[in-house]
Amino acid sequence: MSSPSKVSLSRFLIEQQRQHGHINADLRLLIEVVARACKRISIAVGKGALGGVLGSAGTENVQGETQKKLDVLSNEILLEANEWGGHLAALASEEMDDPHPIPNRYPKGEYLLVFDPLDGSSNIDVNISVGTIFSVLRCPDGVKDPGETAFLQRGTRQVAAGYAVYGSSTVLVLTLGDGVHSFTLDREQGSFILTGSNLQIPADTGEFAINMSNLRHWEAPMRRYIEELLAGKTGPRGRDFNMRWVASMVADVHRILTRGGIFIYPRDLKDPAKPGKLRLMYEANPMAFIVEQAGGAATTGRERILDLQPTTLHQRVPVFLGSRNEVERVTAYHREADA
Ligand code: AHG
Ligand code: MN
Ligand code: MN
Repeated sequence: MSSPSKVSLSRFLIEQQRQHGHINADLRLLIEVVARACKRISIAVGKGALGGVLGSAGTENVQGETQKKLDVLSNEILLEANEWGGHLAALASEEMDDPHPIPNRYPKGEYLLVFDPLDGSSNIDVNISVGTIFSVLRCPDGVKDPGETAFLQRGTRQVAAGYAVYGSSTVLVLTLGDGVHSFTLDREQGSFILTGSNLQIPADTGEFAINMSNLRHWEAPMRRYIEELLAGKTGPRGRDFNMRWVASMVADVHRILTRGGIFIYPRDLKDPAKPGKLRLMYEANPMAFIVEQAGGAATTGRERILDLQPTTLHQRVPVFLGSRNEVERVTAYHREADA
């Protein structure tokens, strides 16, 4: 029998379970539930003003950022979808101060789910791509009611990570630690269809993504790196570089996964109390896992992101990720400067 031309996410997961055994029924359920929640978020995003989902919710999250209606709604969708299935021990989110326990009326599972329900909030009201980022960890042995410390595991411990990008099409990108695969939402059928297997980020690139308006706050090695790129053909790099910045990490990372590039949100000295803007647990770690699985690299400019021991749930870190040779170069500039 010839294989069908379309492989749904469900079929892909079942085949992974059969072939590789590194995914069990609970993990499969977890991924399917997250994908279903992303589908619901995608529908809400797609309704825009007609769905009454634009604008501010008038509340603040734990990091002092004003929440958009869609931040709150996406968080609720993910919570509701994941509470009852029996696959999770607890959840944590960018939009919640503390981990969310599984209510006692439901069974508990062996996994922890961490997410950024709506990434790129500043782009919601202007109809630019936003997304959802998630990371799956194992609940430590013997922990019955996981609190913050249960979540503080190195990125290398992630069993799965992914994101959905709500762009001109909705695409789910997933790694289970065995390559990176992408699924496009078939809006008529309502299912995610495998459209990319074993995605690879080219080691070299001519494209960088950074918010240049912070240049005056950067550290010296960071300025050196960008100044060399800006100098183009006649500078030390001997070639021209192009720049793109969507200001939705999901969209910028998705472009890099598709055609290469380097994404940077460095430490800056604007607010010395903040070691970066992006959050380790639900932005940096899942994206670093995906990028490494696609042959790219991800560092803080000094260390590998996945090796960091988290100290708090909402911890921020500098992020350099994407095409390997560029990430290694800018990381070397920081290490040289430190030495
Ligand atoms: P979030 O909307 O989840 O708070 O994340 C926003 C992040 C990230 O998506 C993006 O790369 C970055 O903030 C944009 O920062 P600037 O506004 O400084 O460009
Ligand atoms: Mn985000
Ligand atoms: Mn967010």
